[in-house]
Amino acid sequence: MSSFWSLWIIVLTTIMLIGIVWILFSNRKTKNTGPDATTGHIYDGIEEYDNPLPAWWFYLFVISIVYGIGYLIAYPGMGNFKGVLNWTQVNQWEKQIEQAEQKYGAIFAQYRDMPVAQLAQDAKALKMGQRMFANNCAQCHGGDARGSYGFPNLTDGEWLFGGTPEQIKTSIVQGRSGLMPAWGTPLGDAGVINVSNYVLSLSGRDVDSASAEAGKEKFAMFCAGCHGAEGTGNIAFGAPDLTNNIWLYGGSPGLVQRTVRSGRNGQMPSHKNILSEDKIHLLTAYIYSLSETTQAQE
Ligand code: HEC
Ligand code: HEC
Repeated sequence: MSSFWSLWIIVLTTIMLIGIVWILFSNRKTKNTGPDATTGHIYDGIEEYDNPLPAWWFYLFVISIVYGIGYLIAYPGMGNFKGVLNWTQVNQWEKQIEQAEQKYGAIFAQYRDMPVAQLAQDAKALKMGQRMFANNCAQCHGGDARGSYGFPNLTDGEWLFGGTPEQIKTSIVQGRSGLMPAWGTPLGDAGVINVSNYVLSLSGRDVDSASAEAGKEKFAMFCAGCHGAEGTGNIAFGAPDLTNNIWLYGGSPGLVQRTVRSGRNGQMPSHKNILSEDKIHLLTAYIYSLSETTQAQE
């Protein structure tokens, strides 16, 4: 805050305070004396007594004014003045986090040295992971972690960036960015349709075979570098497997063409500064367990 606005607030606050004190005290004294004195106002024959505030009421006001002044000395309120307690929202929050770490840190820490694969068998650890998932991840990946349009399903054993404990942990800690460039301009309209048909044919879909054949050549030229010669994807780029009929952005011809024409850029935010290492360790085990069980059921 600039020093002008700081001063502005200090002056306004001070004037207000003085004004309130003045109103309070100037109404203490009555102009007329005696218990039956009136203000002289008459409304339809009803007169107004000229009595001061009852003492208890007056002192309540005095107490709140003193409290207000004390507050302005202790806490920030007077412009840039920080208050003698040096309180801020940030340090209150930090203190609360610290207390929570002390209280709950030990609970998380007991799992610190357990390998993820082992944790993924531990019902109590998974329960904690699930709760953290609900609080931190479900808004994007869904409560059941099955994802939605643009947000990957974390239970299907299909990974953009790899499904080992280390790879999952890296996804959570560092975040991920999947960049599918736009191909509308280099390919042209017909090229987009052809290469999309070829992509759809990779997962066994019925498409115009002449068009897919024409697209195949373009695929080798423009797409294989990231998605692989067979279209099976590459975790180094987060380029999805295009042969398994699992779609991040929809598998209808229209949506695939849109992906190819305009590109995509999914962002998984980094959680390095949001969650402690111990918490991420438990979350990793939870995510890991989701596709472990899917695989076991299949
Ligand atoms: C630079 C690497 C790169 C190249 C080259 C590339 N892609 Fe992609 N592609 C990606 C990435 C990364 C994604 C995932 C985007 C995301 O996560 O948001 C993707 C996503 C897709 C998807 C969506 C898949 C789904 O599950 O919804 C399709 C379809 C696709 N690419 C087709 C193509 C075609 C066709 C070409 C060539 C014309 C191509 N890609 C070239 C990196 C690439
Ligand atoms: C703001 C939305 C958002 C939040 C919050 C979010 N994610 Fe993600 N996450 C994504 C997106 C989008 C991707 C895919 C990135 C891409 O398209 O390349 C992703 C990718 C991932 C991947 C990699 C998946 C793969 O197939 O390799 C993992 C693992 C993951 N998220 C776990 C988590 C966990 C655990 C949390 C909670 C701590 C979380 N995410 C919170 C949006 C989010």
